[in-house]
Amino acid sequence: MLTKVEKASQYIKDKTDKKPIIGLILGSGLGYIADKIEEKKEFNYDEIPFFPTSTVKGHDGKLVLGKLDGVSVVALKGRFHAYEGLDIKKITFPIYVMKNLGIKGLILTNASGGINRTFNPGDIVANTDYINVSFRNPLIGPNYEELGQRFVPMAEPIDINWANRVIKECAEKDNISIKKGTYAWYLGPNYETPAEIKMFEKFHADLVGMSTMPEIIAANHAEINVIAFSAVTNMASGILPKKLNHSEVIQIADKIKPQFEQVVKNAIKL
Ligand code: 6GU
Repeated sequence: MLTKVEKASQYIKDKTDKKPIIGLILGSGLGYIADKIEEKKEFNYDEIPFFPTSTVKGHDGKLVLGKLDGVSVVALKGRFHAYEGLDIKKITFPIYVMKNLGIKGLILTNASGGINRTFNPGDIVANTDYINVSFRNPLIGPNYEELGQRFVPMAEPIDINWANRVIKECAEKDNISIKKGTYAWYLGPNYETPAEIKMFEKFHADLVGMSTMPEIIAANHAEINVIAFSAVTNMASGILPKKLNHSEVIQIADKIKPQFEQVVKNAIKL
């Protein structure tokens, strides 16, 4: 009998012969990168068997296959968040489907708040480690051995060699400087209080956001090489004396679009 993962990927394989080698998960405001994919074959999430559907406004909900700068990719445009109330296992379901489609590496992107005081809005930060302050986990429940092992090592949550190659290439070829930092996964949907951010700072978290870590856990479970990059759109609560200004956040997000796109384009080739 086919598993749910196999049924979902079979649905896709029946409709396209594209063979993606890299998976992309594009966070809030970063979906435009999927629009750069050529020779596209798109699927709405709601047509793929067992796929979750997004409730977030501005999140498209499309799986896009095609070529980005000549590399065969599969991109999730519109990601899932635990705060949407979805079963957290549903959030990570697409990762196993992408693996079944043949990806060799996975690139995650997110918008996040800066905790590290040497960071600035507009920075691009390679996630080098994670802290789970959501106390949620997509692997809770029976383990499906065909997907991965029960007790997943997380000593090297990302492929640091791949991340370092991207950092070097971006610096040398494109003059894009990428910082490194630990990402704290906050459940949301409210933003953190200043006292929480003070606590996360004591935990040595550099960034905070509401996504990415479930996918990191699943990618480690599925033994997929994974890297993740954060766009720092604003500093977290209490880090700066001034109040958050939403239009400034949007401006920052827009300003780093070309650089962020270049980071992803370098990453898919390395
Ligand atoms: Cl300050 N916090 C969280 N949780 N997510 C964010 C953020 C802050 N800024 C952008 N995304």
